[in-house]
Amino acid sequence: MSEFTSLVKSRRSANNYMEGVEITRSELEEIFTLAKYAPSAFNLQHTHYLVVTDPVLKEKIYESCKQYKVHSASAVILVLGNRYAYQAVEKINEGMHHLGILSKQELDRTVETVTGIYEGKGESFMKEEAIRNASLSAMLFMLSAKDKGWDTCPMIGFDPGAIKEILEIPDGYETVMMITIGKEKLSSQRPRGYRKPNGEFVSYNGM
Ligand SMILES: Cc1cc2nc3c(=O)[nH]c(=O)nc-3n(C[C@H](O)[C@H](O)[C@H](O)COP(=O)(O)O)c2cc1C
Repeated sequence: MSEFTSLVKSRRSANNYMEGVEITRSELEEIFTLAKYAPSAFNLQHTHYLVVTDPVLKEKIYESCKQYKVHSASAVILVLGNRYAYQAVEKINEGMHHLGILSKQELDRTVETVTGIYEGKGESFMKEEAIRNASLSAMLFMLSAKDKGWDTCPMIGFDPGAIKEILEIPDGYETVMMITIGKEKLSSQRPRGYRKPNGEFVSYNGM
């Protein structure tokens, strides 16, 4: 089995974590350094990770969602999607211009095209883009975490309004999901859930 295959197969959504395990800033940074290779539309990198390690804040989040793994996790991470990521299109591409890879005309055209697409399609598209791009990033984050020896669980069982208030999340950001991270308490692991055979979720050349 390739390393990638075994990584994919070994990732599980942790049901609970071992209590009192700390994750350091440098361990988290190693994971983010891999997760940044996720693709994003126009390379706009819509995703922002808000990491909560502070025990008081973590307990406030636990109180608002009552999922025990929030309490036992080493950190709780809010995966946010920036609806207005397109506004940084020039900043993201100007380095390529300074390196001579993009001419000034190409840079200006990129800014005009990307801005035109997002503003032309409007707020609902901006919201979809925030969710779509942050979701792809989150999957890579979870695989990167597993590769570095950490277990995760993606979570939607929380009140986004309460989380927004506790963590003072600015209006332009969608709270796409929560990811808890820690060392899984293996005695609480559930059997892997049923997966549909390919024939039930793949079709070729039409539905
Ligand atoms: C968007 C999303 C939200 C989820 N929310 C929760 C949650 O709130 N609590 C929880 O315990 N698991 C949650 N899960 C985990 C799923 O239950 C889990 O991925 C699924 O049962 C498959 O198990 P596996 O990831 O171990 O293969 C969520 C998963 C996803 C993708």
